[in-house]
Amino acid sequence: MFAVVLLCIACFAYWCWCRQRAKTAEPPSLPGAWPLVGHLPLFFGDGCKLWNQMNNATDQCSDVGGAAKINFGPITIYVITDPDDCNTIATTCMEKDPIYEFIKPWIGESLIASKYEVWKNDYKLLTPAFSQIILNTYLDVFNSQSMKLVKDLEKYAGNGPFDLFTYLQHNALNTLCLTALGEGFTDSNLASDYLHAVKSTFDTLVERVIKIWWHNPYTFAWSKLKKEQDGTKVKPFVDILLELSVEKGAFNDEQIRAQVDLMLGAGQESTPNAVLFTMVLLGSHPDVQERVFSEIQEVLGEDRDVEKMDLSRLQYLEAVVKESLRLFPIAPLIGRKLERDVKLKNFTLSAGKHCALLLCGLHKNSIWGPDRCEFKPERWLEPSKVPAHLVYAPFGLGRRQCIGKTFAMMSMKTTLAHVVRSYRIKADHTKMRLKYVATLKPDNEGRYISIEKRTR
Ligand code: HEM
Repeated sequence: MFAVVLLCIACFAYWCWCRQRAKTAEPPSLPGAWPLVGHLPLFFGDGCKLWNQMNNATDQCSDVGGAAKINFGPITIYVITDPDDCNTIATTCMEKDPIYEFIKPWIGESLIASKYEVWKNDYKLLTPAFSQIILNTYLDVFNSQSMKLVKDLEKYAGNGPFDLFTYLQHNALNTLCLTALGEGFTDSNLASDYLHAVKSTFDTLVERVIKIWWHNPYTFAWSKLKKEQDGTKVKPFVDILLELSVEKGAFNDEQIRAQVDLMLGAGQESTPNAVLFTMVLLGSHPDVQERVFSEIQEVLGEDRDVEKMDLSRLQYLEAVVKESLRLFPIAPLIGRKLERDVKLKNFTLSAGKHCALLLCGLHKNSIWGPDRCEFKPERWLEPSKVPAHLVYAPFGLGRRQCIGKTFAMMSMKTTLAHVVRSYRIKADHTKMRLKYVATLKPDNEGRYISIEKRTR
């Protein structure tokens, strides 16, 4: 009897030791690493390959307990998909990953990449600009820009697939300029040049992350990529605004500084892509689209603008947008700097290494149920079917999440309400290939979509 008790105690002590050891252990390395270069060869290639690989890494990470390691040569990147662990990191590590330094030549010390000390102050100053009261005053712009979009698209009605993204992006840029600065981009060539430069900046960012020998600013200075980056710079947007302020007395310095970094750093890639994905999904699910159309008819009637109260009544449309952002998170990962060791549920992350929170992993966590890969907006209408907020984070996690999320939701819903009541959308989401170019995008600028005019 005594021997049995002793054995039980020994087993229990061993179990405790194993648990403790696992907790202080590093997360496991994902499979497929090569000697010396690690996982780098897996991630080399175009944006589509990168996205496929990120997707694989996300699934593998979830399979091994929600935290894992990837090596790009000597550089270690922790990837995290466990909801609790993501939350722990997002709420305790306030500094952004050093990779965000690569975008500073473009957006400087603006909110998205700034040091926590700078961020705290700027965030406080800028938050009032995104209050509901201010956002409500933007509804006129959201409506007029959406109606302009509907008009611009008229020529494509009944004429097969077309490049919808360019229209959505120009529209988003104008909306951002009008709301934040009170001036639109009247010169469409200038807008195109500007958007082209932004695209090149994103491409450069991704290429530099993968080509680790260019992480160092000195080696990067000699690279072809740096030359391309410098060459693609159009006249900086801030200069245009400064000119406007001198010539027309339009803006003061403070407005320019605060708003430009903020808007251009984030708004004009994200919302158009999110609207594009939502339209592809609506076009691929005619039953959902008809239900959205009926809701819009019911709430708005025939031709009236979207008003403040309407937005909260367009509940099914909201569910559609949320579900679209769940399946296609525009920002599938965010990075945090590990300034000290961080204890997770089962592992410990070492200070000084890179850390990527895979938001796309949260969105397909098994908590969402067996239909988690399917487009089911209805799930958002039944509170019992929506899991705790920890597994849904299209706008990021913790205090450094998106300051523009209400702006984005309001503008996207207004755009979609106008477009869906004017056109019947046709698309096939199964033909859509995705690419990761600092944001998640369809690889073919939306040429999966065609529209037909609705008869009223
Ligand atoms: C569907 C649309 C959008 C999505 C999915 C989105 C997503 C995100 C995410 C995931 C982050 C966190 C980034 C990180 O932690 O590194 C973020 C940050 C940010 N977003 Fe958005 N965003 C959207 C629209 C917008 C718009 C329209 C604006 C501006 C009007 C905006 C402004 C910002 C800013 C300034 C930050 C940095 C916030 C901070 O660090 O305090 N976003 N966004």
